[in-house]
Amino acid sequence: MLSVIYVSVADPLIRDEDIAAMLTSARRNNARDDLTGALIYNGNNFMQLLEGEASRVDKCLNAIRNDTRHSGMTEVRRRTIETRDFADWFMLYYPGFDGYDENLGRLAGNGPINAEDERMMSNFIALGQRRPVM
Ligand SMILES: Cc1cc2nc3c(=O)[nH]c(=O)nc-3n(C[C@H](O)[C@H](O)[C@H](O)COP(=O)(O)O)c2cc1C
Repeated sequence: MLSVIYVSVADPLIRDEDIAAMLTSARRNNARDDLTGALIYNGNNFMQLLEGEASRVDKCLNAIRNDTRHSGMTEVRRRTIETRDFADWFMLYYPGFDGYDENLGRLAGNGPINAEDERMMSNFIALGQRRPVM
């Protein structure tokens, strides 16, 4: 199987309802194609981990790349996997991600996820929480 993580820039006009609608169809498609993963929105950018049979992952990524709800999609990590980190989720999405490491592992449901992925995703969540000093 293949696991890919990418980041992208969300359409600045995107609303929570748009994300909810996108998740509904994404989860339906992913269930059909046996794809699992997690999506994080930090207020500006998306990070998504998508895992499953290699050709299905790439086909899905091609569809996602053309989606006007985001742009600048850039893969940050691609690797072959034996087991899924998000086996229980056709697409985990949790608006309350707060950057604490244990949340991703706990939500993933089947034990700790790949440590490097967890660090990358946690850092990404923290990026969206940057506030002006003053
Ligand atoms: C950030 C982001 C993540 C997405 N993730 C998925 C996904 O995991 N699976 C999926 O099928 N579509 C996903 N989509 C939606 C696809 O771009 C595309 O709209 C969808 O596959 C079309 O499906 P439909 O023909 O059933 O409407 C995502 C879109 C965005 C903007």
